[in-house]
Formats: sequence, C-alpha cells, structure tokens
Amino acid sequence: MKPITKAVFPVGGFGTRFLPATKSVPKEMLTLIDKPLIHYGVEEAIKSGIDKMILITGRGKRAVADYFDHSYELESLLRFKGKENLIADSNRLSDRATYIYIRQKNPLGLGHAILRAEPVIEEPFAVVLTDDIIDSAIPVLKQMMDVYNKTGGSVVAIMKVDKTDISKYGIIEAESQDGTIYKIKRLVEKPDPENAPSDLAVVGRYILSESIFGYLKQTNPDKGDEIQLTDAINLMAQNEPVYGFKFSGKRYDCGSKPGMLEATIDFALKDDALKDTVKRCINR
Ligand code: G1P
Repeated sequence: MKPITKAVFPVGGFGTRFLPATKSVPKEMLTLIDKPLIHYGVEEAIKSGIDKMILITGRGKRAVADYFDHSYELESLLRFKGKENLIADSNRLSDRATYIYIRQKNPLGLGHAILRAEPVIEEPFAVVLTDDIIDSAIPVLKQMMDVYNKTGGSVVAIMKVDKTDISKYGIIEAESQDGTIYKIKRLVEKPDPENAPSDLAVVGRYILSESIFGYLKQTNPDKGDEIQLTDAINLMAQNEPVYGFKFSGKRYDCGSKPGMLEATIDFALKDDALKDTVKRCINR
C-alpha cells in the first residue's frame, strides 16, 4: 500500500457565514483560542505522518501562505525583546512540512478545488476541510489511514446526524462491516431529509485514490454550477471500493457560529489557564 504523504486543503471559499470578519480575513485564519482554524488541520495531518500540504487558494488568501512561512520582521523583533522562545513556537508548523500553493481561479465548488491538485498528485492522498475541527486522542487522519491500510480502498469520515441536519451534508448509503467501517454504495450531496438514504453524514476528512481526478472530470456541475466532491466519490463508489469510517473523536462545525462557539468553550475548558474564566462567565 502506498503511504499517504500529501494532504489537500481547499481554502478558496468565501466564508460568508462569518461576514463581515471574512471580508478581509480568510475564514481559515479565524482563531479558535489562539490558533487559526487551518493550524489545527495541518497539525492533525503532520501528526498523522503527512509532510506535504497542498493548499488550493484563491484571491484574498495570502494571509494563509504567510502563516506557514517564517516572518523575518517578527523574528528580529522577538529577538530584540528577548523573547526568542516564541520564535520556535511560531515556526513550528512551517518547519515540519512542505507547503505547495495552487490558485483556484474560479470558485466552482469543492470538487473543482480538489481537481486543481491533480498536477502534483500521483498516489492516494488526504483531503482536509478546515471548517471541521475534530478533537480526538488519535488524529482522525491517522485513524483513517489505518482503515485505508486495512481495506486498500478510499475512506471518508462519517458521523450520525440528526434528521434536521441531514440537508447540510453529503449522506451515504452503505452496508456496515463491523459497526465502524461501512462499504459505501451511494452518496448524495445535501439531500432532502425525507429522501435521504441514511443519517450517516460525510465529515471533512477523506483518503482518496488518485482515480478521483478522473471521476471529477466526469462530474457534471450541480444546480449552483458547482462541481461537488460528493458526486465524484459517488461515481468512484460504483467502480471501486469506498468505505465510510465512524471515527473516534468530537467534531465541531467551525464554519458556523454555534460550532465555533462550542469549540471555543470546550477547548478553553481543557486549558488550565482559561478554564476558570470560562466557568465564571458561564455562571454569570
Ligand atoms: C462539504 C461537503 C459535504 C460534507 C461537508 C462536511 O459541505 O460538500 O459533503 O458533508 O463539507 O463538513 P460544505 O460544508 O462545504 O457545504
């Protein structure tokens, strides 16, 4: 089995749910406690053994590239102020991976963004949607790589959702293998809850065979003129094995205000320096 060493991060979206903040700050740079959302996704990939990050960016996203670079000005200022210890911390992720940037010139959907990575990928790879923050003892991508190594197929992270939330997700039709691994027969992007094939939703972590690029090229744009990754994976599932994996961990939808708020409170409660402040504020 070829090892997974590359992760694709589609970071071209507008983040309209966080306007006006996202008018000038990329949504991937919104902070959860003291780190931007994208930091968590990249750190998860590094901890899973991935060392090449492919970021599919767009206009107004330069702050993302700056974040994973060294900042000469910041470093000299920190040295001048005797705070050298902060330099290593701020460069921690920059030094542990290679970052490759590809511009998605037109915002034509998640599938279109992933297809931009084709020129730099020839083997199975991971996809991370940075809105989805997953807190887990074992990084979710690592858990998924274990399933990939065991099954040899593509793997999508899944979780059970309430009926009221079904229309926000890609939903799978599948047969359970052992209660955590499901063989996928079909996927539908954001179905009407009444016609949904199940209540098992796709979460923003994928391990995909490089054959996905061929399926993406065969995928027609949806009603909103976007090429959906879910539709391409559905085509793939008709021809080769694709598994759904119920991961261990708690997922937060940090692309929404309630999800970001919940993640902020939970992460602060786990932080010795912040937990008392959170408890005091909640009990007000
Ligand atoms: C995307 C995918 C969807 C998936 C979701 C997970 O949707 O298209 O299939 O269930 O991420 O977060 P988005 O949230 O970008 O609309």
